[in-house]
Amino acid sequence: MRSRKSLFITFEGIEGSGKSYQTKKLFNYIKKKKIPVILTREPGGTPSAEKIRNLILKDYFHKDFKEKFNKYTDTLLYLAARNEHVQNKIKPALSTNKIVLCDRFIDSTMAYQVYGKGINKNFIDFVHGFILHGIKPDFTFLLKVKIPKLLKRLKKRKKMNRYDKFSNNFYIAAQKAFVKIANKDKSKYLVLDNSSDSNHVQNVISNKFEELL
Ligand code: TMP
Repeated sequence: MRSRKSLFITFEGIEGSGKSYQTKKLFNYIKKKKIPVILTREPGGTPSAEKIRNLILKDYFHKDFKEKFNKYTDTLLYLAARNEHVQNKIKPALSTNKIVLCDRFIDSTMAYQVYGKGINKNFIDFVHGFILHGIKPDFTFLLKVKIPKLLKRLKKRKKMNRYDKFSNNFYIAAQKAFVKIANKDKSKYLVLDNSSDSNHVQNVISNKFEELL
């Protein structure tokens, strides 16, 4: 059983939406208040899950690989990483009343694997039934970015990311999928346009966090 004092907050959005940046900002804000908090991410977050992350990301970038993971293999790897992460990090942290901030979680699987790759949703729900143990985010910040701004941000990155070479249409579709998910339960999501580099979004997020406390 989860304690009421714990809080599980996730950040979702496409690459270049600034979600990792905003997750870190909120983490520092909470740490300053001396509230027990952990910052984690998916895929990854534990040594074993990070190994799986490397496997997934390597498969995307290795140009010479003739055989790529089948989309169900790829999906199962995300879910395998999630299992390690939930069991070994998220669940223990929540059960000791910590605040957990996670950069990506189940909505990324919905947006990329279900909406993006056509993976059967029942398949994901079925596996989640075994690995999540009823754990779901208390609140999700969905960060949006305008496409020209996104392209600018991706260009600046030194490390190439999975979808950096994808067409604009891919980004637009993935972002639409995230918004669709968020609109299904407005009490648990806040959709924010994070295209401008001002502090505004950061302030809105920390104010919402205070409300959630
Ligand atoms: P990152 O860019 O946030 O580090 O995430 C790594 C990649 O993993 C990113 O391209 C999105 C992708 N991803 C999925 O496709 N499905 C998932 O369930 C998760 C958590 C991430």
